[in-house]
Amino acid sequence: MDVISVIRTKRDRERLSPEQIDWVIDAYTRGEVAHEQMSALAMAILLNGMDRAEIARWTAAMINSGERMDFSSLPRPTADKHSTGGVGDKITLPLAPLVAACGAAVPQLSGRGLGHTGGTLDKLEAIPGWRALLSNAEMMDVLRDVGSVICAAGDGLAVIGAAGDGLAPADKKLYALRDVTGTVEAIPLIASSIMSKKIAEGTGSLVLDVKVGSGAFMKNIEDARELASTMVGLGTDHGVRTTALLTDMSTPLGLTAGNALEVRESVEVLAGGGPADVVELTLALAREMLAAAGLGDVDPAKALADGSAMDHWRRMILAQGGDPDAALPVAREQHVVHAAASGVLTTLDAYAVGVAAWRLGAGRARKEDPVQAGAGVELHAKPGDPVTAGQPLLTLHTDTPEKFAYALEALDGAVLVAPEHTAYEPTPIILDR
Ligand code: URA
Repeated sequence: MDVISVIRTKRDRERLSPEQIDWVIDAYTRGEVAHEQMSALAMAILLNGMDRAEIARWTAAMINSGERMDFSSLPRPTADKHSTGGVGDKITLPLAPLVAACGAAVPQLSGRGLGHTGGTLDKLEAIPGWRALLSNAEMMDVLRDVGSVICAAGDGLAVIGAAGDGLAPADKKLYALRDVTGTVEAIPLIASSIMSKKIAEGTGSLVLDVKVGSGAFMKNIEDARELASTMVGLGTDHGVRTTALLTDMSTPLGLTAGNALEVRESVEVLAGGGPADVVELTLALAREMLAAAGLGDVDPAKALADGSAMDHWRRMILAQGGDPDAALPVAREQHVVHAAASGVLTTLDAYAVGVAAWRLGAGRARKEDPVQAGAGVELHAKPGDPVTAGQPLLTLHTDTPEKFAYALEALDGAVLVAPEHTAYEPTPIILDR
């Protein structure tokens, strides 16, 4: 087999054979196929697509490139959730301990943020002492003792941790390559990338939160539906009970985007408060996870109300070296953006808020960049809310105030206030299942 004939096959809009797929994934993982050759193939796939059989074989080849984890010794059914990424998406933080409090084991291998979307590990690292990097044995101990664990996964967005280090190494290489060659936004490549890691991780059930809107990879619902159905098909074929929700990412989730800011909001949800959209999505995903894990008769709203989810959160943070009672970092400087006119807030664009938070220091441009724990954007109103001229709309937080102007540039045109009494049609948070 030679790589040029594989590239030509896809360039000429033909199907890749199972042998070609197995060979090219293996040869790329071993370093026999060069990055420039794989990037040409990735671009050909982005432009010309793959059918379901090709995607299934590509996913299987990536799974076979590394280890598989095995949770069958755990006394509880396993349930996992994966979000395709958004702005203010802190749902994993309250969701994992909540679902554990309801009786499932939640092995949440997570990533760091890159670009405008935040990463779960960056958020949790705002908690003094908390460790993302666990060995496989430590991960299993936390899962067994607490019921949920959130630790570093081997995806392209993550700094690779000990746990999951050997999962789908082909994807680790390929995702990093796609990230720098403009080939991330291809449904076959996204679906196989996410599902190879989830299947290799060994969860029994999986709920996908496929984001739709300006702050998401998928900007329209048709593409999101295709991505979701491709991933559900891959999971089901590999014996993982998989469902997907399509959820709105046209405006940020909750009232915060930024690491410590989002931890604070997640703790509010666990304490029985928090923004309505975060609570609604957390409970919807918890119900899906519990149903997929065979625990559909357990009501997660009860575990939020009676404090057992909070209890699991505290135990999970402590088990990973964190202090759940420690004060969270606060950025040194704040800048408040006020409403220019009175009326109804109709738009608060997710992508713009994500870029602003990133520029303030909450995110990173390169994998090795540090992040500021306290940086980010706090929202004081959401689309549909009435606003009065001069009231605070956003507070920007950073340790590096010279970044305010750069962040404000990103927000230009992202906040729209319509005249009072303008009819506003709210977008539901859950768009489809
Ligand atoms: N997340 C992944 O893990 N892979 C992708 O391709 C996109 C998002």
